[in-house]
Amino acid sequence: MGYAILSTWKMSFQGVCEASCLLKDHASAGDAAVRCIQCTEDNPAFVSVGYGGLPDENGRVFLDGGFMDGDTLKFGAVGALEGFRSPVAIARSLKDSNFNNFLVGKGAEAYAEAAGFEKRDNLTPESRARYLKDKGKTQNLFSYDGHDTICALALDENGSMCAGVSTSGLYLKKAGRLGDSPVIGSGFYADSAIGAAAATGVGEEIMKGVLSFRAVMYLRSGMTPMQAAETAVRELKEDLANRLGRTSSISLIVLGNDGTFGVGTTIEFPFAYASDTEPPTLYLANAGSDGRTVITRVEDPATVTQD
Ligand code: GLY
Repeated sequence: MGYAILSTWKMSFQGVCEASCLLKDHASAGDAAVRCIQCTEDNPAFVSVGYGGLPDENGRVFLDGGFMDGDTLKFGAVGALEGFRSPVAIARSLKDSNFNNFLVGKGAEAYAEAAGFEKRDNLTPESRARYLKDKGKTQNLFSYDGHDTICALALDENGSMCAGVSTSGLYLKKAGRLGDSPVIGSGFYADSAIGAAAATGVGEEIMKGVLSFRAVMYLRSGMTPMQAAETAVRELKEDLANRLGRTSSISLIVLGNDGTFGVGTTIEFPFAYASDTEPPTLYLANAGSDGRTVITRVEDPATVTQD
């Protein structure tokens, strides 16, 4: 069986390169997905995840992460976590208990410290300067004004799948706010017997559609990854338009258990993919007509300005 890794945004490209090398060397889907995400968590140039992440309304960086093992359906998640290097690694470690899989705030931090996870002050001088410039501007924030989640979906050569996510969440968010990312079913979902999905965009809207689980259920009903991603995003977009009179920035990646991928999006959305038959490749997805998504291969990454 082949392997595949699919991840959100241009910022994931280096991580997809490293993850695909691991998968080629017979690593597990979980190890590959976590490596993919940690490349971004550790890079302060990417301002919406991990080190150098976007501060909340009080100028503090609180991180969210989630992980699901598609073989066992076990999951772990952390929310509103301050002062640690890798929310996705902490989330992954929480999946093996029968209880207490989703920890937030001080409880999550106490767990991470007791379990020996690496600590780190994620507020860099650059993220503090950004906060000082923008603080108080909470009323007109839009998700993609510098806010997005890294999601990684992996399939290994044994047919095991997983989903992992990590984000600093909405810029200048209220203290204690959680988005979709650490919420199983909304931000991420994986079932090795079917496929995996993960979302990025406005968490409050993504949760209304329970978007990742919805896409995996569409896969289960026989849709291709592309059909499942497009349908899930189109339906949520229509529901938001009809009931609330608005559209939102939402993107969804879907990986089938055969390694094929699909994407649904309401905006221009770069993503990265690699498999046993395809080298790491950057793609650009755009919302087309009739709820379809138009995907183009990016020949020159420098032409994609959005991380
Ligand atoms: N999608 C991430 C968030 O809304 O926090």
